[in-house]
Amino acid sequence: MKVIVTKDYAEMSAAAAELVAKQINDKPDCVLGLATGSTPEGMYAELIKGYEAGKIDFAAVRSVNLDEYYPIKPDNDQSYRYFMNTKLFDHVNIDKANTNVPNGLAEDAAAEGARYDKIIADLGGIDLQILGIGQNGHIGFNEPDTELVAGTHLADLTEDTIKVNSRFFASVDEVPKQAFSMGIGSIFCARNIIIMASGANKHAAVAKMLEGNITTLCPATLLNLHPNVTLICDEAAYNG
Ligand code: F6R
Repeated sequence: MKVIVTKDYAEMSAAAAELVAKQINDKPDCVLGLATGSTPEGMYAELIKGYEAGKIDFAAVRSVNLDEYYPIKPDNDQSYRYFMNTKLFDHVNIDKANTNVPNGLAEDAAAEGARYDKIIADLGGIDLQILGIGQNGHIGFNEPDTELVAGTHLADLTEDTIKVNSRFFASVDEVPKQAFSMGIGSIFCARNIIIMASGANKHAAVAKMLEGNITTLCPATLLNLHPNVTLICDEAAYNG
């Protein structure tokens, strides 16, 4: 794993955006795997600036998002579809028809998982996947467990994750208890992966991942098995 340590969140965001911009410039119709949450927000803001400056063209870019709450309507302001539209897609020249987020209303979870993994396969896999990391080491919503699921699936969120994500909701009771998430196998369809982390609250998970051992009890450690992973984290996440 390649490691880039930045001074702070702003530098982390700029460094990640530079690699995404390079990917788009190298392959204008690339497939980006995208994440939501606090971590990539600054990176999306930098990408919008790059677009506005005429340095990045999203016209041919395709995207697949990691996850979506269940059940949730796409126009709910807590949905990850809403997040992507408002934080990136509405501000650049991406064709929304080329953007994919799991369907937070799908009634048949197995069919939705299969549909989503077929989208990834039909796109030819992911060129560059962006990941955040949970305080408990989750990637996507692959939560620590004795077994992990390979494909896209409906995941039960842990109490920890529900509590951490409640900061975005009016109360903890409003946080959905489940989410569709790419599985570890779906994520490993990516040829290149960037995992980002900011803040001392991510230090334990980052340190566990950097130890190099593999455990499903810290799903991010599986990234040690992938040949092209770059960790971009700030000093607080790196040093604690
Ligand atoms: C988001 C996702 C999650 C987050 C993780 C960190 O699409 O898949 O794994 O990356 O929960 O969230 P933040 O960035 O809010 O700390």
